[in-house]
Amino acid sequence: MLRTAQIDTATADLTSSPAWRALEKHFLQVKDLKMKDLFAENPRRFSEFSLHFEDILFDYSKNRITQETMQLLFNLAKARRIAEWRDKMFSGKKINNTEDRAALHTALRNRSNTPVYVDGVNVMPKVQAVLDKMEAFSQKVRRGEWRGYSGKKITDIVNIGIGGSDLGPKMVCHALTQYHHERLNIHFLSNVDSSHAESILRGKNELNPETTLFIVASKTFTTQETLRNAQTAKKWFLDWDTTEADIAKHFVAISTNKKEVEAFGINPDNMFEFWDWVGGRYSLWSAIGLSIVLAIGMPRFIELLEGAHAMDQHFQTMPFEKNIPVIMGLLGIWYNNFFDAESSAVLPYDYYLREFPAYLEQTDMESNGKSVDRQGRRIDYSTGSIVWGAEGNNGQHAFYQLIHQGTKLIPTDFIIGAITHAKCNQQHRNILVSNFLAQTEALMIGRSQTETRQQLKAAGVELKDVEEQIPHMVFDGNQPSNSILFKELNPRTLGSLIAMYEHKIFVQGIIWNLNSYDQWGVELGKHLTAKVLEELESGKTIYQHDSSTTGLLEQYRSFKQEKIVKS
Ligand code: F6P
Repeated sequence: MLRTAQIDTATADLTSSPAWRALEKHFLQVKDLKMKDLFAENPRRFSEFSLHFEDILFDYSKNRITQETMQLLFNLAKARRIAEWRDKMFSGKKINNTEDRAALHTALRNRSNTPVYVDGVNVMPKVQAVLDKMEAFSQKVRRGEWRGYSGKKITDIVNIGIGGSDLGPKMVCHALTQYHHERLNIHFLSNVDSSHAESILRGKNELNPETTLFIVASKTFTTQETLRNAQTAKKWFLDWDTTEADIAKHFVAISTNKKEVEAFGINPDNMFEFWDWVGGRYSLWSAIGLSIVLAIGMPRFIELLEGAHAMDQHFQTMPFEKNIPVIMGLLGIWYNNFFDAESSAVLPYDYYLREFPAYLEQTDMESNGKSVDRQGRRIDYSTGSIVWGAEGNNGQHAFYQLIHQGTKLIPTDFIIGAITHAKCNQQHRNILVSNFLAQTEALMIGRSQTETRQQLKAAGVELKDVEEQIPHMVFDGNQPSNSILFKELNPRTLGSLIAMYEHKIFVQGIIWNLNSYDQWGVELGKHLTAKVLEELESGKTIYQHDSSTTGLLEQYRSFKQEKIVKS
């Protein structure tokens, strides 16, 4: 344990490093610069601060940066030895030092198939073997050869999982809806609130057990929520005219834990394996992507992997000055640590990317929401940004007010595709794209008092009639944004987009000297849940809690009691 931490004592003291100090000094010089002035002064600003990667344009010109800012940020990246750490990650070194594990999601999409070693063993043959198994299985289901207990074809697939075993595959399945197999409906069951299971298994849209396939997706196969939901699904299935033997046709598992899969009653032949060097939130590329493969087919899934692999190569080979994930990571550091921005928003102007912010919430915040460094020392600088967002234009009519006129600086990523799969008329797209462009422009240029007056006058408004409203109509502007414009949302582009964010998170973790691949912060809640559950199930008070927790527990019991008495 904690082995790799020792390699790198030089990366420990971030805020006293010369590269950091230089940025602090520079920040004082540029913090009040207005982006609109920078654009006016330099007609080449867009071309100087934008990059192309395949069918993706990454425009970062609407940021509060100069060439010098970027140079100083690149110096920081070099001082923190990003390239060295990147190479350690790709080559299977155990960069997850607190769990003594590699973080090798990149091997899952290593389409050049070059050997990657963990503990001296090349993992690529295993990766390929699981892909082959997924392909064979998915072909049977998709072609209608895999039949349910009564001989019918599968029509519905329910992925039971939570966190990384839910958010990644769910996001990709939604994003690639246009590529789905016609017969197959994909559902995601994650919440332990029984309302979620019920909404899928019972009621109006009740599934048919003869044609439903459950995928129990859990890296550990010990996750309370997933196992509870899986038990409920099993019971639901067995409540029909079925036998234990029929389970083999309707339940498959994805896990690293064969023993628990067998204990649950799933045939190990129906298990798709992955490994402890795949972090849950980085696992959609592994067998955890089975629901994706069933939905879109293996050739499309391979395109997704290829898109991610292409971004991996970009990240590995491009100099920092042309390296999109490095630049994204550095811009995040610039706002988080120098402008004290607490959050950053992801705003996809694409209905099918509506799950992307939720997916990034876990990937980013579970990775970099840490307050001790790799060596376990408490740190004195701000880390993981609060990531949030929603699809455009919906967000515009909800929270954009705060981004435009609130007191907080919120850097944003605007994401949009040029071509839509939807058979809608072009007017929809024109409106969507106009809003996308106008929002980034408005956030940047703002509107001064003078401009507000001029615009009102030009619109024929009597200024004396609106004098009191004018201060409310002023926009400070200077709100930074990245724009990510791609040609169309297809598997390859999506793969690249996801990998781009994964590597951005990696870059930030290295700069902050964090282990981005553990998640000890989820443990305490799990531990206390077990205690409270014991009390709820036994009806006894076993542990001492604070008065708030005790008060809530008692009220809960009393509400439940009243319900029982009444009914
Ligand atoms: O509790 C957090 C977490 O461990 C996540 O990191 C993970 O994605 C999720 O739970 C689900 O874990 P599993 O796949 O083992 O069920």
